[in-house]
Amino acid sequence: MTKANSRESEYPIDPMFLDRWSPRAFTGEIIEEAQLLTLLDAAHWAPSSANMQPWRFLYALKGSEHWEEFVSLLVEANQEWAKNASALIFVVSRSFNGARSEGRSSYTHSFDAGTAWGHLAMQARISGFYAHGMGGIKHDEIKEKLEVPDGYRVEAGIAIGRIADKSILSERNREREFPSQRKPLSEVAFNGHFIGND
Ligand SMILES: Cc1cc2nc3c(=O)[nH]c(=O)nc-3n(C[C@H](O)[C@H](O)[C@H](O)COP(=O)(O)O)c2cc1C
Repeated sequence: MTKANSRESEYPIDPMFLDRWSPRAFTGEIIEEAQLLTLLDAAHWAPSSANMQPWRFLYALKGSEHWEEFVSLLVEANQEWAKNASALIFVVSRSFNGARSEGRSSYTHSFDAGTAWGHLAMQARISGFYAHGMGGIKHDEIKEKLEVPDGYRVEAGIAIGRIADKSILSERNREREFPSQRKPLSEVAFNGHFIGND
């Protein structure tokens, strides 16, 4: 077991996995595009089925011409805190393999894009940032306004920033600004066959 960041794993994992968490209090400082591209490069080195690399990343840096539009594409509850991030990303995945005309659908495009997000989140910690995933985004508007072609699935949003004191948050968000715990490993890891039905 490993202890870090008020969390304790059941087995001796690297502390970096406990150090990654999802804060909402961000400093709102400006970051360089190269700093963000470093995180996206780590994401892009994720493994994928047949090395299809189906992930696509649409991003905006705080202070850029695209920033306000990206903030507006989050649901209100996420806008409230994510407007203080340094960068926003929408992860999109290509849901077909090969040429569009071949019509071969991909089974693993979302799984692969999720792997890329995991890489990004870990590189963010290594680079001194935090990455906070968001399912609360305006999927249809993102597709339309950011000109995502048909056949690409809007997966999730990500807020990137440096952590700030939780006193800047609303009361509701302040109360949940802590690293969360996990279910027992035995509830999710089964030796041989599925256990449970909830
Ligand atoms: C795909 C995805 C979607 C999420 N959506 C939201 C969201 O819309 N708003 C939010 O505040 N947190 C969101 N989260 C953060 C999760 O609630 C958080 O990762 C989870 O509670 C585990 O906590 P931890 O990341 O601090 O370990 C999301 C995380 C992921 C990976």
